[in-house]
Amino acid sequence: MFSLPVLIAQFVSSALHLTLSPRPLFETLQNYGHQEFLGPPTQASKSIAIVGGGSGGLAALKTTLDVAAEINEDWEVVLFEQHRGLGGVWLPDPPGHEPQPPELPDSPTYPRLIVNTANPTMTYPHVPFPPGTDLYPGWDVTRQYHVDFATQFDLWPHVRLNHTVVSAQWHGHDGYGDWHVTVHSPPVDGGSEDVVLRRTFDHLVVANGHNHYPHIPEWDGTDDWLAYPRPGLPKRELIHSIYYRDPERYRGQTVVVVGTGASGRDIALQVGTLATVYQVVRGNKTTTPGANVIEKPEIAYFTSDGIVFVDGSVVEGVDTVVLATGYEFRVPFLSAPHASTLVTDPDAEVNSTTAEHLTSNLRYIYPLHQHIFSLAPSVPPTALAFIGLPVLIANCPSDYAQGMFIGHALANASLLPSREEMLQSLLEREEHLREQGWDPYFVGHRLQNDNEAQTYQDNLVAYLKKQGAIPDDGKRYVEPWRRMGREQNFLINRGWKRIKEQGDEARWLNGVRTENQWAALLNKIAEWQSRWEKDHGISEDIVSLREYEW
Ligand SMILES: Cc1cc2nc3c(=O)[nH]c(=O)nc-3n(C[C@H](O)[C@H](O)[C@H](O)COP(=O)(O)OP(=O)(O)OC[C@H]3O[C@@H](n4cnc5c(N)ncnc54)[C@H](O)[C@@H]3O)c2cc1C
Ligand SMILES: *[C@@H]1O[C@H](CO)[C@@H](O)[C@H](O)[C@H]1NC(C)=O
Ligand SMILES: *[C@@H]1O[C@H](CO)[C@@H](O)[C@H](O)[C@H]1NC(C)=O
Ligand SMILES: *[C@@H]1O[C@H](CO)[C@@H](O)[C@H](O)[C@H]1NC(C)=O
Ligand SMILES: *[C@@H]1O[C@H](CO)[C@@H](O)[C@H](O)[C@H]1NC(C)=O
Repeated sequence: MFSLPVLIAQFVSSALHLTLSPRPLFETLQNYGHQEFLGPPTQASKSIAIVGGGSGGLAALKTTLDVAAEINEDWEVVLFEQHRGLGGVWLPDPPGHEPQPPELPDSPTYPRLIVNTANPTMTYPHVPFPPGTDLYPGWDVTRQYHVDFATQFDLWPHVRLNHTVVSAQWHGHDGYGDWHVTVHSPPVDGGSEDVVLRRTFDHLVVANGHNHYPHIPEWDGTDDWLAYPRPGLPKRELIHSIYYRDPERYRGQTVVVVGTGASGRDIALQVGTLATVYQVVRGNKTTTPGANVIEKPEIAYFTSDGIVFVDGSVVEGVDTVVLATGYEFRVPFLSAPHASTLVTDPDAEVNSTTAEHLTSNLRYIYPLHQHIFSLAPSVPPTALAFIGLPVLIANCPSDYAQGMFIGHALANASLLPSREEMLQSLLEREEHLREQGWDPYFVGHRLQNDNEAQTYQDNLVAYLKKQGAIPDDGKRYVEPWRRMGREQNFLINRGWKRIKEQGDEARWLNGVRTENQWAALLNKIAEWQSRWEKDHGISEDIVSLREYEW
């Protein structure tokens, strides 16, 4: 790692064209014309901007640099991260800053957040967590893993922290052009004005995450319910889980948690011991095993003092409703008013065949090849790549496979099938979903099950092997142990809980260093717990992978 002065030196010597702007940023955006964008300052054969320094952006950075090194090309790869550090969702808001609506937090992370997938299954290939790491570590350990990854692979010189991409606009046509990218960062050298950077890049890799824009359902009556006078009591609250921090805040309250994804389950578990908690459970989903909650069907509407559920039941005296209702897919810097590449419209009527622009209906960005490359007619496919869109997948390994796919396609666009062929296979995926009774525009980037999630990654890498871009080792990308670790996660989780209750975790972790040793540990715990559950006549609870959605 480097010290701050070194960073500033790098920042300056990198000769990115920085301009001290005399005007506020957004005015600048409107006022500066096309011609104000400068080309890359280096002789690099390609310039690539990666937006976002979470799991996805770091995977893209490492893998594209690897490809460049392999083919002996000088690519300029810059990763812009708007926050003060790397790690994405794992980097909490700055200490002491607890944003309230309508201000959005930087991150949904809360102090008691621990991962719900065993750490060996969450890793970039061959980069295990440090020896001694809890099998289910906290957000802080997970963030440090990302920071260490950047250090281990010498990624820092390519990283620009505190740099927000505010607009990226494609100038050109479907054959050739470049991105006009506007970035802003805080003042340097004691100045008071934002630094505005405007320059072009050949390729844009979007890794901005999809746990940042809350999806907030609407019901009749919420305004009256919120305004209902409650002498001597605090105001009622209707908040999204992105604002959830400390369960103590809800002690003694009556709380309704809406949703049974990972966030809803965890919040119900944490608040359930301190408050009276009702949890809204949809369809055949279930609440968290062990949570002290009362299950409810969906909310129908609110009255001034009550919440009415679709079965006609009413709960009165609710203090707080926590909406663990998920997030929307938005990319503001590609969208109006900043740019025109991505149309965001929840009611979009165009489909993958008819869309002239890339479109987000907030659940699905389309048309994309393999959830990655834009197939919109206005931009060449390799100009615009997304990383990290698939949901219900282990992000780091999947991001890494996507990153390899992106890196090689940027090196050689002929690796990709023709746009027509790519569109055809997208339409086939959509049709396949329809045949199974799903609406592909609702399913979006959610993979159907664990098998699809693993196969997706395998296929990306297998394709590169088939094209001769990488050597064929005859193996599938997702290792058998990782597959097992995902499929048996809940069994392993129960086993690990039992090990911790026995105070035995140090013994189990003893000598576990390498990826193979972590893999063996997963197998050992799964077998140990499975045997114990059989001996005790405990039948495994079925928890579908769908519960991983936040
Ligand atoms: C509460 C919660 C718990 C989770 N728990 C788990 C878990 O236990 N296990 C697991 O595998 N996954 C978990 N996840 C999923 C997690 O989001 C992914 O694993 C992964 O970390 C996402 O990485 P990402 O890079 O795609 O997105 P993010 O981590 O969101 O990173 C995106 C980055 O892009 C930056 N950015 C966005 N816009 C701009 C811009 N315009 N300019 C510059 N920078 C920008 C953001 O600041 C951010 O740092 C959890 C998610 C949440 C919300
Ligand atoms: C980023 O901004 C924070 C303040 O928000 C500051 O403390 C930090 O030093 C900055 N980091 C860099 C690398 O500029
Ligand atoms: C829940 O219902 C869906 C379809 O409605 C089905 O695919 C799934 O298997 C069911 N899950 C359980 C746990 O019963
Ligand atoms: C896409 O929309 C067009 C026009 O509405 C329609 O004709 C076509 O059948 C749609 N395609 C699919 C696959 O739904
Ligand atoms: C680019 O990919 C195509 C398709 O796989 C291949 O035929 C061609 O040789 C590749 N070009 C280079 C320079 O590797």
